[in-house]
Amino acid sequence: MLLLLPTSLSAQAPHFVQGREHPALIVDGVPYLALGVQANNSSNYPAMLETVWPVVREIGANTLLMPIAWEQVEPEEGHFDFAFLDTLLAEARANDVRLVLLWYGAFKNTSAAYAPQWVKTDGARFPRMRHLDGRAHYALSPHSAATRAADAHAFAQVMQHLARHDPQHTVIMVQVQNEIGSYDLARDHAPEAATQFAGPIPQELAEGLGITRQSWEAAFGPRAEQFFTSWYMARYVEEVAQAGLSHWELPILVNAALGDPYTDEAGNIGPSGGPNWNALPIWRIAAPSVDAYGPDIYTRDADAVAAFLDHYAADDWPLLVPEIGNAPEYARFIWPALGRGAVLFSPFGMDRSGYSNYPLGATALDEDTLAAFSAPYRLLADAGSDWARIAMAYPTWGTARGNDGSDQTHTMGRWQLTAKYARWQFGQDEWTWLESDPHPLAEAPVGGALVAQLDADTFLVTGRHVRIEFDLAQAEAGEHAQLLEAQEGSFVNGEWIMRRRWNGDQIDYGFNFGDQPIWLRVEMGTYR
Ligand code: DGJ
Repeated sequence: MLLLLPTSLSAQAPHFVQGREHPALIVDGVPYLALGVQANNSSNYPAMLETVWPVVREIGANTLLMPIAWEQVEPEEGHFDFAFLDTLLAEARANDVRLVLLWYGAFKNTSAAYAPQWVKTDGARFPRMRHLDGRAHYALSPHSAATRAADAHAFAQVMQHLARHDPQHTVIMVQVQNEIGSYDLARDHAPEAATQFAGPIPQELAEGLGITRQSWEAAFGPRAEQFFTSWYMARYVEEVAQAGLSHWELPILVNAALGDPYTDEAGNIGPSGGPNWNALPIWRIAAPSVDAYGPDIYTRDADAVAAFLDHYAADDWPLLVPEIGNAPEYARFIWPALGRGAVLFSPFGMDRSGYSNYPLGATALDEDTLAAFSAPYRLLADAGSDWARIAMAYPTWGTARGNDGSDQTHTMGRWQLTAKYARWQFGQDEWTWLESDPHPLAEAPVGGALVAQLDADTFLVTGRHVRIEFDLAQAEAGEHAQLLEAQEGSFVNGEWIMRRRWNGDQIDYGFNFGDQPIWLRVEMGTYR
């Protein structure tokens, strides 16, 4: 039943809007930049929260991503327990932190681990996928109406609970399932699923893709089994999401275990049926209630990270990074994410529960590891909603030091920007007359920059451990670039307040960003 709250109690629901340049996540009526941390998988108990909040505070995060597990809210069928959710809501409010809940339903990293025992043990009612020879596969089947209905019912209770107990929208988004899909089996071979695979693709899918209705194999060739499973996994998520949304409106996120960043030809597409980038067109048709798909990034390869970000930001879809490894070198990828309009960035495993997912992430949350993330978060903490507002409307560029540390260029209007790494603040590369020690970060995978173009010649620039240079992309005859003004400043109540102008040494060798949190407003011009 839809719970109607008086408008005075029910704050405007968080939602996405499409900006001129990028989609924005609106929270409390204004664009919101979620500087997130995700807790470890088993930190979803009241006693564990004291291991979470200190890290949230040390990093300067404004958003916590936390699992809510089916096994914990419905340990017995029809008996619901929201004690953890209630504690979480209260403590999040006390800590002034927003929440993204992760609904660990029938699929957690594809497995049924977080389903209640009454689901796990009743294979007749909640069937597993089947191999060709009839053997049970580990994953629950998305084709089962009973599993879908039970999962949807439990999720609906969670959303109804939020409708009753979270009118202020401490919870700003919900992720439905976690890294859904199936490893080591492309599709379910149980009789009902096999019949569906033998039949034509759904009419809705054919229409959505603008192709004629035909068999899965004729439509998709070598990807037929993957896309078949994608359709049914996505329909599963759609049914669960809809059940929840009928009680409480919130943005719905689905996260992806990723395959190859560049090609799906070799068959490395992550778990079959998950929202790997190559299956997004199927997912978007099958699951219209899903607002955003988020890549879970666990590669340290900067080119691969950029490719994943490009895939998930394409076609004006909101970009969210619900998980990224928590080792220090991942921290710099916040810049290319924000440069592509990301509204959420969230390292995974950010609590002191004593677990480390090394080698994916850090061996431990030591001081250096926390500092790598807290530095950009502190820079963005005050300016987050200003940045989110700017990113909606203006062209942006974000870049992180690449695998080989070489210079990177990008053109914005008539300006070419170059990012350089491991440079002293003083001096030019070509100077041979002045000797210097090698830069201490010469080999370090740190550094990155973020730029917004506010008008043809005016830019907002920030970053860490990076030098940014401006030049004309194409100078007319006799025309030379010149800096008119570089203001260091900050945003106060949405207004730019200058602290000082940079000139002299501070501008003679590009704009050099080190450890300090600095925003520059740069106005370029030319002379002849
Ligand atoms: C990705 C999953 O989404 C997370 O829940 C977690 O299992 C990590 N992998 C590994 O630590």
